This record gives sequence, structure tokens and C-alpha cells, in this order.
Amino acid sequence: MTEAVLLVGGRGTRLRPLTVNTPKPMVPAAGVPFLAHQLARLKEAGVDHVVLATSYLAEVFEPYFGDGTALGMRLTYITEDEPLGTGGAIRSAADALESGPSDPVLVLNGDILTGLDIADLVRRHRAAGAAVTLHLTRVEDPRAFGLVPTDATGRVLAFTEKPTGPDEIVTDQVNAGCYVFRRDVIDAIPAGRAVSVERETFPGLLADGAHLLGVVDRTYWLDLGRPDAFVQASADLVRGVVPSSALPGTPGEYLVLPGARVAEGAKLGGGTVVGAGAEVAADAVVEGSVLLAGARVAEGAWIGRSLLGAGARIGPRTVVDGAVVGDGAVVGAGNELRGGVRVWCDTRLPDVSVRFSSDC
Ligand code: GDD
Ligand code: MG
Repeated sequence: MTEAVLLVGGRGTRLRPLTVNTPKPMVPAAGVPFLAHQLARLKEAGVDHVVLATSYLAEVFEPYFGDGTALGMRLTYITEDEPLGTGGAIRSAADALESGPSDPVLVLNGDILTGLDIADLVRRHRAAGAAVTLHLTRVEDPRAFGLVPTDATGRVLAFTEKPTGPDEIVTDQVNAGCYVFRRDVIDAIPAGRAVSVERETFPGLLADGAHLLGVVDRTYWLDLGRPDAFVQASADLVRGVVPSSALPGTPGEYLVLPGARVAEGAKLGGGTVVGAGAEVAADAVVEGSVLLAGARVAEGAWIGRSLLGAGARIGPRTVVDGAVVGDGAVVGAGNELRGGVRVWCDTRLPDVSVRFSSDC
């Protein structure tokens, strides 16, 4: 038996306005809440009990996933009244674990899409007899992550969360947000107060001489913390770049969910997903984008690498390129939203009438 703790309690502030009404792991990617893809991967890795450590909008998880029977695994939900940080959440979850003191327990950030062989990470953890084993990946710009230099044997030398200056950037190896903990290491995290596993637990373990093993793996890896990454991850799931058994359909250039309507003459591609009840009108183009349930795209609009929230409406001939339109927002005809623009939920942007006349 292998158990896992999934950290799903963060506020997802960098993903606003997507996370105003929905916690980050429940925002649909490729047609289902992102968490469904993570649970499917855990199941395939032999995990049969997952403890979901919730906090922000905690009440929405259980009604969707229930006790896990439909997924063939057991799910337990724990909720912090006040967010206790990553370490505090892991410690709270320990009360629901059934593993013995020296058993391996997987711990995953709830916003990571990866092709990592999770079962192999557990095997390597056991073989090394490590206190904690960390999945590491290499990135071009490590500033937004936890930096984890290792020696030639993979032994972790330091852990620097979100380096503050160039002198702290000593490696491009970063914490990929998937760990195997020996269960008694989790039990040793102080209970009942906020703890950051990255800023307190890992540096503390290293100072005490504990064996932390880093496993560098360069398969697909993405942190979905920012809108562009979220949209990219959804498109990659739809196209099968990273396979997921939770995909509600077969991999291809687009995915249209039941109840959606796509007019003849509309063009979909690049891993676009059209959610239940969403509509794409004639002559509209939608490339590499996410249309959540009930979103509507009018004729002649062009949507690329963007996310349209539930019930959002895009007017005729409007361009939305690399932008996020919040739930229920209405963008009138002829607008141009580009490069990282975020339209807040329920905002109304009026039509833009372009006149090509000399007095313009
Ligand atoms: N239950 C609970 N309570 N969960 C939390 C809390 C909390 O107080 N705070 C954060 N989480 C969850 C988030 O929901 C997310 O799934 C995970 O913990 C990590 O939080 P993020 O806010 O996404 O952190 P990050 O992306 O800035 O940094 C983390 O991930 C990077 C890899 O993507 C760190 O672990 C970095 O070291 C790492 O490189
Ligand atoms: Mg993150």
C-alpha cells in the first residue's frame, strides 16, 4: 500500500481571476478539474489512499470526488481552519495516514503536471534509505522556485526557497513539488502552527545531517501557478503531449465536451478545449485555449492561448491573445485583449466601433 498527501489548500493568487470562485486544483484543464489528472497518475503509480489537505474553498473538493470509489482509490479530506503553509498542511494530514513509521509517503503540490515515473521515485527512496526524496527538474529561470543543489550521488546540499539575489542562484536544479517522505519525518513536523516545508523543514533537516536525496528527472514538468502555464498544460493534455487517463476523450488537436456547440466554419486547434454548454460561432478561430462551461465566442472572434471563464462572452471580431477572461465577464465586439491581460469576473467591456474616416 502506498499513501499520498496532496497539497491543495493554496489561494492561487497568481492565477486570479481563475481562482476567485474555484480553488486552483479544481479549475478544469482539458475538460476535468486539474486534480483529476493528478489523482489518475497517483492511481497508476500504485497509490490507493490519498489525503487531500484543503484550506481555501475547501468545501468544493468532496462533492466532486466523493470517497474516491469511482476512481478506484480511497480519498480522505482534511481542512485547516487557517492555512498552515505547506509543512503545516503535511503535518495535519499525518493524522489521517495509516502507514508505519518507516514507510514511504508521497507528498505532492496540487499544481504540478509531470510525466515523472512516481513509482520509480518511491523505489529510489527505499533503495537509498533517505529521510526525504525530492523530484528535481532543471529550468532556465529558477528564481520562482526552490533551488536544490546536490552532490554527485544526488545528496541534497542546500535548499533555498525563492532566491532573493544573484549570489543565491547556485544551480538550475529546482524542487519540482513531488516528494517521498519517510512517515516518521512527517510526524516530527511541529503540529498546530504554520510551517513552510521549503523554508523550515528541509533546511532544518539538512542542518541536522539528515539524508535528503534529490532525483533529477527531465520528463515533462510544469507548475500551473500562472495563467499562461495553466493554458499550456491544458493544451498539452488535450494533444497527448503528456498522457492522462483522466482525459475525457481521445488526444487530438481539440476536445469538445458534450453539450458544447461549435458552428460550421469555426476553427479549433492547438489543444483547445470547449467546455460543456460553451459555444463557438461561425468564422471564429480558437487556438490552444480553454473555454470553460457556458463560455461563448461570437462570429469572427480570434482566441489564442487564452482562458475564458465559465459563462464568459466574447463579442464579434474581438481578439483575445494570451489573456484571461474571468467567469461571467462580457467583452464587447471589436476589442483587442493581448499579452497577459486579465479581465476580472463579471466585468463588462463595451463594444469598440472602429471608424476608418478622416475625422477619426
Ligand atoms: N493545505 C494547504 N495549506 N496547502 C497549501 C498551503 C496551505 O497553507 N499553502 C500552499 N499550499 C499548496 C498549494 O495549493 C500548492 O498546491 C502547493 O501547496 C504549493 O504552493 P504554491 O503556492 O503553488 O507554491 P510555489 O509554486 O510558489 O512553490 C512551490 O512549488 C515549486 C514547484 O512548482 C515550492 O514547493 C517550490 O520550492 C517549488 O519549486
Ligand atoms: Mg505552484
